[in-house]
Amino acid sequence: MSRWAWAEVDLAAIEHNVGLLGASVAPSDVWVAVKADGYGHGAVAVARTALSAGATGLCVALVQEGVALREAGIDAPILVLSEQPPEELAAAVRHRLIGTVYSVAQIRAWEAAGAIDHPVHLKIDTGMRRVGVSPDQAMAVADAIAASPSVELAGVFTHLAVADLLDDPFTQRQLDTFEGVLATLAAAGHAAPMVHVSNSAAALAHPAARRSVVRAGIGAYGISPGSGVHDLAAGLLPALSLHARVSHAKRVSAGERISYGLRHLFTHDTTVATLPIGYADGVPRRLSSVGGQVLVGGRRRLIVGVVTMDQLMVDVGDSTVEIGDHAVLIGSQGDETITATEWADRLGTIAYEIVCGISARIERRPR
Ligand SMILES: Cc1ncc(COP(=O)(O)O)c(C=O)c1O
Repeated sequence: MSRWAWAEVDLAAIEHNVGLLGASVAPSDVWVAVKADGYGHGAVAVARTALSAGATGLCVALVQEGVALREAGIDAPILVLSEQPPEELAAAVRHRLIGTVYSVAQIRAWEAAGAIDHPVHLKIDTGMRRVGVSPDQAMAVADAIAASPSVELAGVFTHLAVADLLDDPFTQRQLDTFEGVLATLAAAGHAAPMVHVSNSAAALAHPAARRSVVRAGIGAYGISPGSGVHDLAAGLLPALSLHARVSHAKRVSAGERISYGLRHLFTHDTTVATLPIGYADGVPRRLSSVGGQVLVGGRRRLIVGVVTMDQLMVDVGDSTVEIGDHAVLIGSQGDETITATEWADRLGTIAYEIVCGISARIERRPR
């Protein structure tokens, strides 16, 4: 394929990041979150690289994501991070996907799916209030797991809500709540071989949260989990870059306007280059109205006019630009770098949403 818009994934950067995370959390293990097609980086390639860099397991959001990894020949432990629709569980059994459980109903669904001694992790909601069993109900679900021939308690975990905010006391409250649940479960004979709490931010910033395994997503991709932990994430290398080639160029005059709504007014004569990449590829339509830039000729150039579905325009001033010239939307060119975090900061979101938003229409090429 030779479309003039593509992403490059630097697997050596993933390898570096997983190695770095592994070294900083040792003796805890690293399981890498490869849900959402490896945060937009390509789940299979990321999974293989992460495992060869020392990760000992993988995490996914959906059964189908785990099945795709198995079908690609990946044999490592794969944890599905939340309860799944009952009709998905037969595939999870067939493909040896570790389940997450926080209700008796899900245990019954594993039984109906024909599971026998299938490993599941019990998820405790210690304050995120998304999914998980409340601390006061944890014992009932653990008892139900123990009583069922279909499932076996292989892990207990929780998820932190503000791990990237270093001074927020809520993380310690969640950790204390979790310790209390673990102690109560252990006293009743429900000790699990694996205990895990940390996402990337906690793995970097909260040593007490590392436990047997950390579940690292964003850090493995070389992106800081949040401004509160930027310093701790400084050694990580971003793996994904986004590229296009100039497909058209023209001079425009002062007083002309451009793109849908004619919202951008040129105040000077200039050259405009068109890039064949748009919001259907994951470049947010709003990026132009928040000062979004693109690298062309090693310099930052302003996106002018709204980003359209398949194309966007950049003001390259009086520079010469040729059809086919290389433009970098995320990544480096010359001495300049634009990161997914820069887009996110401009757009008032997080870099996770930017990289996950790069659509399937964009080919991921190994770098
Ligand atoms: C339950 C759970 N664990 C771990 C992760 C990985 O988090 P991060 O990408 O911040 O490392 C996620 C991602 O959202 C998650 O939902």
